[in-house]
Amino acid sequence: MQQTPKTTYLSDYQPTDYRVDSIDLHFDLHETKTIVKSKLSIQKLDNSPKTPPLKLNGEELLLKSVSLNGKQLSSTQYALSDESLIIPEVPESFELAIETEINPKANTALTGLYLSGGNFCTQCEAQGFRRITYMLDRPDVMARYTTTLVADKAQYPVLLANGHLRESGELGANRHWAKWADPFPKPTYLFALVAGDLARIEDQFITQSGRQVTLQIYVQSHNIDKCQHAMQSLKKAMRWDEDVYGREYDLDIYMIVAVDDFNMGAMENKGLNIFNSEYVLAKPETATDSDYEDIEGVIAHEYFHNWSGNRVTCRDWFQLSLKEGFTVFRDQEFSADMTSRGVKRIQDVNILRTHQFREDASPMAHPVRPESYIEIDNFYTLTVYEKGAEVVRMLHHLLGAENFRKGTDCYFERHDGQAVTTEHFVKALEDANQIDLSQFRLWYSQAGTPELEISRTYNEAAKSYTLTVKQSTPGQDQNKPFHIPLAIGLLDKQGQDMPLQLQGESAAIKGTRVLHIRAAAQDFTFQNLNEQPIPSLLRGFSAPVKVKMDLSDEERCFLMMHDSDDFNRWDAGQQLAVKIMTQLVEDVHQNRALQVADAFIEAYQEILNNDTLDKALATQAISLPSESYLGSFMEPIDPVAIHQVRRFMRQTIAQRLRDLFLKVYHRLADEGRGEYRIDQTSISLRSLKNLCLSYLMELNDEDIIKSCYRQFLDSNNMTDVMAALQPLANTDCAEREAALAHFYQQWKHEPLVVDKWLAIQANSRLPGTLDQVKRLTQHEAFDIKNPNKVRALIGAFAHNNHAQFHENSGIGYAFLTDMILQIDPMNSQISSCLVEAYTLWRKYDVQRQALLKQQLEKIADAPRLSKNVYEIVSKSLG
Ligand code: TRP
Ligand code: ZN
Repeated sequence: MQQTPKTTYLSDYQPTDYRVDSIDLHFDLHETKTIVKSKLSIQKLDNSPKTPPLKLNGEELLLKSVSLNGKQLSSTQYALSDESLIIPEVPESFELAIETEINPKANTALTGLYLSGGNFCTQCEAQGFRRITYMLDRPDVMARYTTTLVADKAQYPVLLANGHLRESGELGANRHWAKWADPFPKPTYLFALVAGDLARIEDQFITQSGRQVTLQIYVQSHNIDKCQHAMQSLKKAMRWDEDVYGREYDLDIYMIVAVDDFNMGAMENKGLNIFNSEYVLAKPETATDSDYEDIEGVIAHEYFHNWSGNRVTCRDWFQLSLKEGFTVFRDQEFSADMTSRGVKRIQDVNILRTHQFREDASPMAHPVRPESYIEIDNFYTLTVYEKGAEVVRMLHHLLGAENFRKGTDCYFERHDGQAVTTEHFVKALEDANQIDLSQFRLWYSQAGTPELEISRTYNEAAKSYTLTVKQSTPGQDQNKPFHIPLAIGLLDKQGQDMPLQLQGESAAIKGTRVLHIRAAAQDFTFQNLNEQPIPSLLRGFSAPVKVKMDLSDEERCFLMMHDSDDFNRWDAGQQLAVKIMTQLVEDVHQNRALQVADAFIEAYQEILNNDTLDKALATQAISLPSESYLGSFMEPIDPVAIHQVRRFMRQTIAQRLRDLFLKVYHRLADEGRGEYRIDQTSISLRSLKNLCLSYLMELNDEDIIKSCYRQFLDSNNMTDVMAALQPLANTDCAEREAALAHFYQQWKHEPLVVDKWLAIQANSRLPGTLDQVKRLTQHEAFDIKNPNKVRALIGAFAHNNHAQFHENSGIGYAFLTDMILQIDPMNSQISSCLVEAYTLWRKYDVQRQALLKQQLEKIADAPRLSKNVYEIVSKSLG
């Protein structure tokens, strides 16, 4: 980095001096030389008396000409820099015509206009539009767009942009054109165009008011057989948003385009979503059950943005969670309604607790509404998305579904067509319900994960029970106390919920009730309890906090079997496993023999024996916490010991329950035979069956390896194939090599399946994995310019394969640094994701700290570092 990059502060926010009412764009599309003509109609706003200079953003552009009200400006009439075009003298109202030249083919950053699979596409969030033409590239400048595309007819028969197709026609020299107009004013980040050779499927949706909407999904023609699930998901999402939020779609057409080269999951461009093909393409032979679920969720997420993001958008990028947190909450609830609510909640909390808590404990910690950034791309984070969703979930919980809906109706009506802040969102919920959320707002402005330390006393004589709750935020000492909704229940000896009556109340509530934690320390005394209860705390994970309480192993086992709250039944098992496993890591350090208590294994046995349990929930209940999650309970983190312990636990469980696992595996395999179906019952069945297989494969037993290999060969769906390939890839046996080779031969023409093949090898626990990963970077299947490939191979190794990545000598680190420095000049959004593997360096032992710090310093010293990587590295070292 030659110069220290500049920090942007929320407190510096100023509205613009000018507004842009309309933009007329014209693209003459050529791979290496695209000419963009832009006509802006600009008006001075009333906030300044004079006409200040007009400053437009622009990067990597070749300026060909600028004219103001039809008169070409000479180069003395404007100032051009690497990042801007400034015109010092402008009238109050004028038309500006700008011509720029860009090179889509050279665009490896995948932001702005670029090529994917030979087709043109765009990605403008957050600040990609400025790589297309000069413009006020910020979300509070909303304009009406018309877009004309001109391209070679044979190579790019399909020409798409936002809104409705207005006209199209032929030109000489085999070129053709199309003109699109979007009636809704929008910020630059929602602009999109696509030009390419694409096939499509089409469907219709009739909205609640009876309007007909055309739905189209565009893919490369060989993928046309993998679009049906995405289309069904879209229709479900459209109906759900009408039913639950009263939100109707507003254009006559909704288009989705799948591309193979994409930095993130998908993008909600108005009327023209562009998707990473990973979140569109599925057929049973190529996609797993969880791929199917992810597609449904992401399709819905982008569709929901049409209201939460597009109709009501963000004033500035500090408000990102306004659209993302809210939209994630909406897609989570949609998926809960479409699939299994209990399992969905467990999955979402797992992601939050493992990855967002980690971020909140790192040097990159920031509030849901950050106060400053160097590079906004670095703030598309788990905190903004997942914790932001938890904050909205708490609001939903505090208000109740009906009042929450009143609040969102007020929000959408009041701010339709505006660019607003998280404050406007909270205010709308407040105003619609006459409640006071002042303390609650701290969730948007304070970083860190609050911790609740809870102790209990039972007074036998008084038959009263007191919970003492203390809150604090480790690492964020200046935080004021949060308002934390703590949902709890108290169980009697039979495992029944006891009636809850706080002191001073005349009646009891049966089941769950919510305690409102608002102070640093608070007592809650329950009365009329005839026996000492077992507390069930933070039911349903009612707030994104950590709870510390001295429950005994017996109590956790009891909750695991009896809690009426699905989530807490699962969580009791997780917390018990965490306790056992952190103790085992200690035993490893002390060279003590490892063993697992009978009670724990018996609990697993009981779950497996119980045919009446929901199979998907049972699967979650007998899954051990991940190595990443376990690491968050240890300081220093010892990734090698954690891996050893987790493996020991799985082997021990498998040995002790071998016959039962075999029985359940074979029974479910029989039951599930036949045609592949993607309904909840079938998905749950496969999940439990395959979990049994993965435990059994811990035994290194020849017969089991054989039946695993048979499942690999004989299955008619990717879920069962992957479930067999994964444990094989972790086992040193002949079937391993045969399966991996067979899989590649079969699927080498399906990029998304090849990604699975790369990831499975990068995640292998066998020795020599790093060497294999290095070899794979040279394989024809790998492409360092493709984000999905980099994530599948390098991301998986650095973020998931802890024991090998953190191998003592530091060779895993040296490899990653090398990759980061190669990728950074091409695509800084991807290199910065990889650097995240280093941010927690201070949580490791002194030897690893030294090695990790060296890597960060080496990166910091590299010439021409991107702003993205610079920000993460400097904050990590600082
Ligand atoms: N808004 C997108 C979403 O729904 C996120 C996104 C897609 C994005 N592509 C991006 C963000 C590129 C930054 C850069 O979550
Ligand atoms: Zn989003």
